[in-house]
This record gives sequence, structure tokens and C-alpha cells, in this order.
Amino acid sequence: MTNPEDDYDLPALDIALAGTPFVGNIRYFPSIHSTNVLAMREAEEGAPEGMVYLADEQTAGRGRGAHGWHSARGAGLYVSILLRPQVAPADILWLSLAAGLAVREAVRQVTSLEADIRWPNDLLFGKKKFCGILTELNAEVTRVRHAVVGIGINVHQESFPGELGLIASSPRSETGRSWARQDLLIALLQSLYREAQALSAETARAAANILSRLEGASTWIRGRQVHVDEGPGYSGVTAGLDARGFLRVRTAQGLRTVHSGGVRDE
Ligand code: BTN
Repeated sequence: MTNPEDDYDLPALDIALAGTPFVGNIRYFPSIHSTNVLAMREAEEGAPEGMVYLADEQTAGRGRGAHGWHSARGAGLYVSILLRPQVAPADILWLSLAAGLAVREAVRQVTSLEADIRWPNDLLFGKKKFCGILTELNAEVTRVRHAVVGIGINVHQESFPGELGLIASSPRSETGRSWARQDLLIALLQSLYREAQALSAETARAAANILSRLEGASTWIRGRQVHVDEGPGYSGVTAGLDARGFLRVRTAQGLRTVHSGGVRDE
């Protein structure tokens, strides 16, 4: 499943990322509990914007909600990026949505594969997920102190056992060939940097741009019959995003907004 020749080359990363705040700020771990946990801890202790925490393996990878993220050695790209965006806490969802677009763009650049985005930011090939994003936040009511964007991409898995085969994928299992994590990481960090900069420079304009790109990139934003895993759960048809980037779902009882749960096909 793993690809022993797909090691990261840190000096080459620094050269490829010239002009971004990530240069000289990439910390690599052969094995770590969770890059997100370390990034959040160090951010609180004053680590600078642009720190990148990269691991070959995570022993306690964190997913959204109560989920974990299986992070087998060498099989995937596991990275957390520390940002201090100049946006209001109420606008931070746009950063997380933009991270989904950044991964989509990176995967397209490197592999030519077109991924779908399931709100808020699962990346799928068809109906099978290959990337998850966990954005964690430290904020006052009116000010974001820091955000950590944690990204896990299945890269080298050739296949998935049992039931997982129905819901999980990787660029390798889609194309039958392997792709370098280094290339994916460079394209991803460049793309994420552009997104974060645009959001900090002019949030309303960037949000409108993210929204219009998402409408084109995701089959989940409008007109899709979904089940929402929130509280007791409910069903409806997706009806676009609201002004803060939350998903609206039209139900028999009226329009509802998905706040914390994920959505899935009925
Ligand atoms: C999801 O549940 O879909 C989000 C998964 C996010 C996983 C990544 S892997 C790198 C970073 N470190 C973590 O502990 N989690 C994120």
C-alpha cells in the first residue's frame, strides 16, 4: 500500500514554495500523534503564521466531529497549516471551504482528476471520499487568533478492504498509478496560500468568488437529495449556501441550515 520511494524532500519544498510564508517553516515528523493537535498547541505558544506540520504517519489522527483519521505510514498526505487570517470569526467557514477548493485544484494540477466537493469540504471521486479537512479555530468573539487547517489525503492506497471499498478512494486507486506526495503538497500549499491571502485582503469579495467556484465544483450544493446528520437527523434537498457559507436544505417543514453535521446521500 505504501510507496517507499515517495519520501518528502524538505530543501526542494522550500525552493518550490519561494514567495510563500511556508519557506523555512515546514516541520516534518516520521510519526506523530496528530499534526493538528501539535499545530494548535504551538500556535497558542506563539508559533508564526505559515508553520506547516507534516507527518508520514499519525497515531491519533483527528477527523471532524468525534471521528478519527486513519493515517497509515507512507500511505497518505497528512499536513496541518497554521494561519492567522484577517477575517471575522463569523467568516472563518470560508477559509475551510477555500481549503477544499485548494485541494481540488492541487489534485487537478498534479493528476488531472476532477474531484467533487461534499459540503463542507470532503473531497470525493464520484461517491468515494479521498480527502478530509479539519479546520480548528482559536478566536475571541470579534477576532481570530489563529486557525489550523488540517488536511488528510489518501494517496497510495491501491484498494480498500470490505465496506470501505464502497466509500473510500485515492488517486492511486482511481488511476492505477502512483503520484508523488511532494508534488501534491507543493500545489496544495501554493493554492491554499492564494486563497488565504484573498480572504484576508477583501473577505466579502473572496467569499463571493469561493461561492461561485464551489457552485461549479460541487454536485452537493444545490438540488441534491440528502440526509443531514445533525441531532435526530433530517432529509431534504440542498438549496445553496447562506451568507456565511453554511449549507441550506429545503425540507417538508421549510428551509433549514446545516450547522454542525455532515450531509450524505439518502
Ligand atoms: C475529516 O474527518 O474528514 C477530516 C480529516 C482531517 C485529517 C487531517 S490529517 C492531518 C491533520 N491532522 C489531524 O489529526 N487531522 C488532520
